[in-house]
Amino acid sequence: MEMLRAGQTKDQILAQTGMVVGVRDANFTVNEGEIFVLMGLSGSGKSTLIRLLNRLVEPTHGQVLLGGQDVAAMSKKALIALRRKDLAMVFQSFALLPHLSVLQNTAFGLEVAGVDRKARERRAMEVLDQVGLRAFAQQMPAALSGGMQQRVGLARALAVDPSLMLMDEAFSALDPLKRTEMQELLLQLQKEQQRTIVFVSHDLDEAFHIGNRIAIMEGGRIVQIGTPAEILRNPSDAYVRAFFKGVDVKKYLLAQDVARSDETLLIHATADARADMAQAVAQLRERGQNHAFVMGEHGRWQGAVSLDGLLRGLESGSTSLQNWYLEGVAPVSASLSLNALMGRIVQQPVPLPVLDAQQRYLGAVTQTVLLQKMVDMDQQESRNE
Ligand SMILES: Nc1ncnc2c1ncn2[C@@H]1O[C@H](COP(=O)(O)OP(=O)(O)OP(=O)(O)O)[C@@H](O)[C@H]1O
Ligand SMILES: [Mg+2]
Repeated sequence: MEMLRAGQTKDQILAQTGMVVGVRDANFTVNEGEIFVLMGLSGSGKSTLIRLLNRLVEPTHGQVLLGGQDVAAMSKKALIALRRKDLAMVFQSFALLPHLSVLQNTAFGLEVAGVDRKARERRAMEVLDQVGLRAFAQQMPAALSGGMQQRVGLARALAVDPSLMLMDEAFSALDPLKRTEMQELLLQLQKEQQRTIVFVSHDLDEAFHIGNRIAIMEGGRIVQIGTPAEILRNPSDAYVRAFFKGVDVKKYLLAQDVARSDETLLIHATADARADMAQAVAQLRERGQNHAFVMGEHGRWQGAVSLDGLLRGLESGSTSLQNWYLEGVAPVSASLSLNALMGRIVQQPVPLPVLDAQQRYLGAVTQTVLLQKMVDMDQQESRNE
């Protein structure tokens, strides 16, 4: 620890002491209900870090706070109790007990925790059902394919209803098809029950697909933490960028990543609709633009109007802006994928408004903006190659 504090590198410390710095200065928060992915090259410290969380590796220094309790400091007894009911782990190697049936394997954690047979088998059947293995409950693990065995591994972890689930390369031993299938299963379960999961992966596609946020590790350190889009938009260095190589990064961008707020005139509706209309007409003429977006209270989206509509509104003595909203302008959600966005944008008469979850206007996307973004991304991709 002193050598680390004195600024010595992992290599220097190894050379002088024969000791490996597994993880250093790792500082991060995992939010309740999210899938937090640890990603990095082999040997970067992912397994060490995830095992520090349940103390399969004893931390030399630091804290692991789970619901306010410091796992790193608790007694062995408290730790065992915590592992039984609150912390479950899914291993790359499945780690099933070969002499126990699928049902018994699934119920194993509950058995260790002292749950009576009837109750634990009922719960085990419930989770086997969730992972699609109800019919295999009485089989032995050896009779199952790798993908099915890992479903049992997942079911065993789910059975104890843990507040934190740790998954170390849980799908890496599976062939690509089975792997994608397991990712979908995990995401589907996540929709239903919102677990807190720390998931280790060395695969960017997997990390981006299932991760709400990702921490990228290098040489025992966390070099970047962010959502997939944040990391894509702003990779902290060449090490992080190198992960993007050969990956279709466009599919991970969302509408919020391309929305711009400087394109379209915004009208903040007041109680005086006629004044709003007159002011909008003047501003549109000044800018040489044909339409504007109307915002209500707290910046909430109201609708789109055209210069033509505003003029007709003024002429006809109308006192409602609302009557002149353009039809067919359907805002999209900030979390819409870029691929889905492309399908929507061609039909749009005006820039496509992008709204956040509170219906607030974030910005608009035009075909030009979208094309420009694609070109930027392609250039970034060729820089990586
Ligand atoms: N039991 C151990 N004893 C000594 N050093 C270890 C041990 N386990 C891991 N290490 C070292 O700790 C560092 C981090 O290893 P770790 O297994 O955490 O990496 P990883 O990111 O999980 O790699 P992989 O993708 O290959 O699983 C490496 O330098 C490794 O050599
Ligand atoms: Mg590992």
